[in-house]
Amino acid sequence: MIEFSKNQIDKLPHLEKINLINSATGYKSANLIGTISEDHITNLAIFSSVTHYGSAPAIFGFVVRPTTVTRNTYTNIKTTGYFTINPVHEKIITDAHHTSAKYPEGISEFEKTDLEEEYKDNFKAPFVKGSPIQIGLKFLEEHHIKANGTILVLGEIVKLYVKESLIENDLFINLSKANIATINGLDGYTIPLAPKRQAYQRPK
Ligand SMILES: Cc1cc2nc3c(=O)[nH]c(=O)nc-3n(C[C@H](O)[C@H](O)[C@H](O)COP(=O)(O)O)c2cc1C
Repeated sequence: MIEFSKNQIDKLPHLEKINLINSATGYKSANLIGTISEDHITNLAIFSSVTHYGSAPAIFGFVVRPTTVTRNTYTNIKTTGYFTINPVHEKIITDAHHTSAKYPEGISEFEKTDLEEEYKDNFKAPFVKGSPIQIGLKFLEEHHIKANGTILVLGEIVKLYVKESLIENDLFINLSKANIATINGLDGYTIPLAPKRQAYQRPK
């Protein structure tokens, strides 16, 4: 085993450090977060920190890097109160990854990629057209992590759209049927194999 102490990790060059730390917790979700500014300029950015924080009510959250530079997704959510989450699937990996480029707030990633905006049911933020899952959320809370300046942003699901062919009888969404990607680290996109479902467990 190669050993890394806290001290050694702290001293690593930035890129190596983020590669190491972002890979160590396992495969992560790959999601595009769609927002719109007060001036009606749309924004789309990839995030690997989206996870769920309970189902009743259904709350999803993600972590924003320190706001020492402008973070368009965060600013738009704070201004409008709404955002969308759209999982990355195989066909859009290259464009989805490109949304991590630092475009200024006046430029929409929808213009710089082949990804298209979709608006439905008067929801106040853009969905990614063709995404097999589209989630519309309303901003709920933010929690500032004092130790490193990151921010946990929480939102409540207002709308959830799922392509019919992915939903099984018990409402399990079979992500592999849409070739939805997972991320190893910050750039290793992988398409998982079909899930091996297990029965609900009770004590023996
Ligand atoms: C695979 C991948 C995952 C990322 N995950 C996050 C994340 O969870 N939180 C974050 O703040 N930035 C994350 N980023 C960086 C953002 O995508 C990047 O900072 C982007 O420019 C943010 O756009 P915005 O300023 O329009 O919000 C990730 C980048 C990549 C390539």
